Amino acid sequence: MTRSFPITVHWRQAGRVITHAVPEGEYILRSFEQQGDPLPFSCRNGCCTACAVRVLSGSIDHHEALGLSKDLRSRGYGLLCVARATGPLEVETQDEDEVYDLQFGQFFGRGTVRAGLPLDDE
Ligand code: FES
Repeated sequence: MTRSFPITVHWRQAGRVITHAVPEGEYILRSFEQQGDPLPFSCRNGCCTACAVRVLSGSIDHHEALGLSKDLRSRGYGLLCVARATGPLEVETQDEDEVYDLQFGQFFGRGTVRAGLPLDDE
């Protein structure tokens, strides 16, 4: 029998706190959709950061989070579209474009693009 873990998402923009039991190894974003709660997303493959969250408790699976720099992972951010349930977890949704701006804001939007994007060294 497959184990499940309680995953809680503080969906700040919607003013909701949602908890679902997600079977071990299943993608959290997809499981929430299947259980009637479609959370924010765009690419669904770990690249755009639209589904980024901050971890409040527990640890999030980073194995497929290609679009998130090592620095932001270590600062407690994760991507729900490619995070599989590996244990109890509580997260909150990011502010709009928060992760994108943290990761790329210093490189884009000032008229010049600098070398050495944060994803290059991984
Ligand atoms: S939806 Fe794009 S990184 Fe998750």
